[in-house]
Amino acid sequence: MFYTTLNCYHIVLIIRRFVPIDMFSVIKLASETLPERYSPSLFNFFYETYPKGFIVAEKDHKIIGFIIGVQMKPEKGKILMLSVLEKYRLQGIGSKLLAEYLKSISDEKIKTVALEVRTDNKKAIKFYQRYGFKIKKKLSEFYQNGEDAYTMAKEV
Ligand SMILES: CC(C)(COP(=O)(O)OP(=O)(O)OC[C@H]1O[C@@H](n2cnc3c(N)ncnc32)[C@H](O)[C@@H]1OP(=O)(O)O)[C@@H](O)C(=O)NCCC(=O)NCCS
Repeated sequence: MFYTTLNCYHIVLIIRRFVPIDMFSVIKLASETLPERYSPSLFNFFYETYPKGFIVAEKDHKIIGFIIGVQMKPEKGKILMLSVLEKYRLQGIGSKLLAEYLKSISDEKIKTVALEVRTDNKKAIKFYQRYGFKIKKKLSEFYQNGEDAYTMAKEV
């Protein structure tokens, strides 16, 4: 479950499962980087119900990214949140989080992984397209503030 990069004998990046001590950092990161507001108890719910899908990126003892994925049905996974702290973006960290989530579900019967993304979130859409996710449909006024979403999905 670990992904580490060694640089001059210092561990610079660790991709690992979320543990409860990460809670405050993850909630702070989500509130700083994601437009939707989530109840703190929701993070605990995801951890308790599907811990293998809750993965963090840690650098120098700091949480700099996370992904939360769940299993909706035996054959369907869903990514609920993915975020990397702004100053660490475009360094492959989102890719590593996504790869670790996909690896963590590879022993399940999951055939499709889906997600929703704001239609104006071009960067995230590009990110997901890069990894084979395709836009499936548009969901009008999907978000709390009335913005539209695309459903994207990928066969795994
Ligand atoms: C989407 C997000 C998680 C990507 O994380 P990241 O660590 O920057 O992504 P990576 O560095 O692994 O990028 C992988 C690929 O995605 C694409 N990509 C990522 N960011 C991009 C951007 N700003 N513009 C265009 N393409 C981008 C590129 O193809 C990139 O590969 P390349 O660098 O070889 O060209 C990050 O931008 C983020 O946290 N955004 C805010 C939260 C968010 O929108 N989450 C998704 C909601 S569903």
